Amino acid sequence: TVDCPLPKRAEHLAAGGVLPHGLPSAVHAELVAADREIRPGGPLPGDTDGDAERHDDELIDVFAADIRDFVRRHDLAGAVVVNVASTEPAPDDDSLPPSSRYAAAALRAGCPYVNFTPSAGLHHPALAPLAEASGLPYAGRDGKTGQTLLRSVLGPMFLQRALAVRAWSGTNLLGGGDGAALADPATAAAKNAGKERVLADTLGTTPEGEVHIDDVPALGDWKTAWDHIAFDGFLGARMILQTTWQGCDSALAAPLVLDLARLVARARERGLSGPLGELGFYFKDPVGDGPSSLAEQYAELRR
Ligand SMILES: NC(=O)c1ccc[n+]([C@@H]2O[C@H](COP(=O)([O-])OP(=O)(O)OC[C@H]3O[C@@H](n4cnc5c(N)ncnc54)[C@H](O)[C@@H]3O)[C@@H](O)[C@H]2O)c1
Repeated sequence: TVDCPLPKRAEHLAAGGVLPHGLPSAVHAELVAADREIRPGGPLPGDTDGDAERHDDELIDVFAADIRDFVRRHDLAGAVVVNVASTEPAPDDDSLPPSSRYAAAALRAGCPYVNFTPSAGLHHPALAPLAEASGLPYAGRDGKTGQTLLRSVLGPMFLQRALAVRAWSGTNLLGGGDGAALADPATAAAKNAGKERVLADTLGTTPEGEVHIDDVPALGDWKTAWDHIAFDGFLGARMILQTTWQGCDSALAAPLVLDLARLVARARERGLSGPLGELGFYFKDPVGDGPSSLAEQYAELRR
């Protein structure tokens, strides 16, 4: 986990051209106040290795108490929990990964939950019955902000014009913390599964091709994504579309996180519960059985 104070982090972002100059100093006091609210997760070095299940349960209790304490001290009507932590490798046994402990704590504290990452979160067999019994709304997984956003627009175009896609390949160069986390092949596999699902869902078939992610720290918060799409037109005429996406990841993600926090809070107010498929517009691998083309997802969100 990162221990850089938020005001410092904001200065880095301004120096990198992500935030307007002068903004970090204008909101310095707010950032210091937010920093003071950060609590350590766990397990931490030195935590005892007792019976694993009990250990998880204790941690979840501590996290839930932190959330309730936050709500009480600030005299809030409620809180929402949004997971924006580093992507985890897919779990290879039944134990709860950190994202699932935080998700369980959200339920225990009575909070709606959003998973902006491809990590397990609520999507864990041990949590499914708890999620259902909680009566809380939840949304996820993995924010759709770049390459997959573009795929969810282009995929339906090929299908609707009956242009048969033969292969769809992609490469990403990214820096920042996400680039470093995704340099690990197991973690990248969790991420790429969501990107590939969008193609299978919008095209109705799985084209050839893979997605690769390279960590290029020098790029900082900017990401370059190339897609190469081989498709057939009338009488089998062979064609290629290539796209280059150069996006600032944090600037693309931040407004989505704000929207989601507001929308799930509203859903809770209105008494909605369970998976919010209407929020599929925001995700690579949405909960529920909503449409997968961006236009239909937007219509569903508005409805
Ligand atoms: N456009 C986007 O930025 C975008 C889009 C979709 C999904 N995501 C996902 O959002 C997540 C965050 O992306 P980022 O670029 O901000 O990454 P980042 O590396 O900059 O930030 C990750 C943060 O998670 C914290 N963290 C790691 N493990 C933790 C744990 N166990 N408990 C608490 N905190 C922990 C780190 O300290 C760090 O502050 C990633 O999973 C990424 O895949 C981002």
